[in-house]
Amino acid sequence: MRQTVKEAAGSAATVLIAGCGDLGQRVGHLLAGNGRRVLGLRRQPRGMPAGIEPLAIDLAAGVPRLPMFDQVVFCAAPDGGDAVAYRATYEMAWGNLLAALCALPTSPRRLVLVTSTRCYAQNDGSWVDEDSPVTARDAQTASLLRAESLLRESGLPGLVLRPAGLYGADEGPLLRSLRDGRARCASGPPRWGNRMHRDDAARAIVHLLGLADPAPLYLGVDSEPTDHAVLLQELAKWIGVPAPESADLPAAGVNRRCRNTRLLTSGFRLLYPTWREGYRALLGGSQSAGQGLGGCPRGADQ
Ligand SMILES: NC(=O)c1ccc[n+]([C@@H]2O[C@H](COP(=O)([O-])OP(=O)(O)OC[C@H]3O[C@@H](n4cnc5c(N)ncnc54)[C@H](OP(=O)(O)O)[C@@H]3O)[C@@H](O)[C@H]2O)c1
Repeated sequence: MRQTVKEAAGSAATVLIAGCGDLGQRVGHLLAGNGRRVLGLRRQPRGMPAGIEPLAIDLAAGVPRLPMFDQVVFCAAPDGGDAVAYRATYEMAWGNLLAALCALPTSPRRLVLVTSTRCYAQNDGSWVDEDSPVTARDAQTASLLRAESLLRESGLPGLVLRPAGLYGADEGPLLRSLRDGRARCASGPPRWGNRMHRDDAARAIVHLLGLADPAPLYLGVDSEPTDHAVLLQELAKWIGVPAPESADLPAAGVNRRCRNTRLLTSGFRLLYPTWREGYRALLGGSQSAGQGLGGCPRGADQ
């Protein structure tokens, strides 16, 4: 099925954000603030913020007929965590968008495909970067890797950003699990994980859109991989709830430390270099009176 975009008169100077949800809208907001024309594509684009023109298309339903764009960001998220949802997003929706862009007389100058650090299956706490091996350890990861292959095969001038654990939109599952007492710390050796504040992920995408000669792949992580138990214990102090109990939890599916050297070397500067600055901004004044920001380890907040 081909869909026609009637009112979305794109132009050579327009940026298309496909899958314009939380992250996409943060990107769109920054670009619009820089004077760019931004189209935000999603299935139900109601309530798009000022500066982002809504475009209602289901990319998984077929190859849309699109106008020309200067730059394109694909940051659609699967509807669920299962293999079918991942295939619909990273193979069908992304594949249809690529087909639509390839059919245009003039290609976009730059595409950014957002996938995930889920591509890395290392579970021994080792460091990984853009040159580390990836593994299709399940159907979902296979779909992410297929999306990256589709971009390479398209010949379009694109790059991939693989972010880790995005946070910063609202309390999120980590803080909720602490507040309702469900959180547990794994006993035993550290289980390393990585995060990036959503504002930094959006800023990284805008940065990558503007780079003169980007690499084909970047990790989107902050500068401090953290043992999950340490993160839980510190955040519990900050919000004034009891430290989570230790438990013999099942082996971690992933346990690795992602490096952001390539992104930083390209000139990107993090607003939130570690989870400390990010969660401090997220929690704002909402810490318990007893702990407040005084519970935050000062030395790491400089
Ligand atoms: N959350 C994390 O920790 C994390 C970590 C690594 C990477 N990521 C990646 O970061 C990206 C952005 O995440 P996010 O938090 O911004 O997700 P989000 O808020 O759910 O936004 C994604 C948007 O994609 C749209 N969408 C989904 N299927 C579509 C389709 N077939 N056609 C058109 N639009 C479609 C949805 O809008 P409609 O329902 O209106 O279509 C939704 O608003 C995703 O690629 C995600 O996988 C997230």
